[in-house]
Amino acid sequence: MLQDRFARAIDYLRVSVTDRCDLRCSYCLPARFKGFEEPEHWLTFDEITRLVGAFARLGVRRVRLTGGEPLLRRNLPELAGRLSGLGLADLALSTNATQLAKHAQALKDAGVTRVNVSLDSLDRKCVSQITGSDSFDNVMAGLHAAAEVGLSPIKLNMVAMRGVNDAEIDTMAEFAFAHGYILRMIEAMPMGDTGRNTQYLDLGPIRDRLVARYDLIPEVIELGGGPARYWKTRDGIGRIGFITPMSQHFCATCNRVRLTVDGTLYMCLGQESSFEFRPLLRGGASDAELEAAILHAIELKPERHEFVEQPAKLIRFMSQTGG
Ligand code: 5AD
Ligand code: SF4
Repeated sequence: MLQDRFARAIDYLRVSVTDRCDLRCSYCLPARFKGFEEPEHWLTFDEITRLVGAFARLGVRRVRLTGGEPLLRRNLPELAGRLSGLGLADLALSTNATQLAKHAQALKDAGVTRVNVSLDSLDRKCVSQITGSDSFDNVMAGLHAAAEVGLSPIKLNMVAMRGVNDAEIDTMAEFAFAHGYILRMIEAMPMGDTGRNTQYLDLGPIRDRLVARYDLIPEVIELGGGPARYWKTRDGIGRIGFITPMSQHFCATCNRVRLTVDGTLYMCLGQESSFEFRPLLRGGASDAELEAAILHAIELKPERHEFVEQPAKLIRFMSQTGG
């Protein structure tokens, strides 16, 4: 079991396979951003598989493929197939779903079990405004395909923004209930200028209102092992999760680290602590050396983020670390 200095078990690895994205969500990527990683720095599928294999030997049980937009990385299902061959307990994907319709079946066949889809609104104009492109139809087609091929559960990630999509929360909840999707509402984090300029909305009062309106009860079983706290309708069919990094941080139970496309391991979304694996992978390191480096890197994991105390601290965007 991997354990950090604060006795947290680290059993979850998020693997970003590209920092590029076909969308420009207002809270994530600046419209004219150009600073993407050079292709020669991208870890190859061989390198990713080898490194994830070392994490798995040390106790990582669950892996999530992220980006940027992971489906922009060519042949992603091939990588998924290789990772699921490592005997993980869970292989998941976070996607904006613009290309999910094309790839859902291949991903499912490769061993991906479930998907999280970014969806902040059901209003086409609002989606265009937030994402910078008319992506709504493709996302809906992607969602539909994911359900068709049996990816389950399907979670919808909604970043709640005051004055942008807060009027749509109930519509989103009812849409999720009706389709069997799990809605997850997320507080915007001040990652980079984009995240900082986002109209933050405290989800505490929103949760209280939704609990009363839909007569929700707290979910006791853990759903997904992440920071979301879930509530469900009395018939057990509808579920809403709340991710509240700002109003109620959950760092004490953090179980994850994040690998970027260039082989940098970030220990925390909100801190700079990191470790570079690419030089080891390309410099002939043995498996034992890789494992020793992972143990060393985990020692660097900080106790908590400081998004509230030091909102200007972090200049990386979410898409650079992997959401
Ligand atoms: N704060 C909170 N969530 C964010 N995401 C991207 N940027 C931010 C931010 N600044 C979310 C997106 C996506 C997930 C991978 O990360 O909603 O669903
Ligand atoms: Fe792309 Fe996801 Fe960032 Fe939106 S939040 S710009 S879909 S990486």
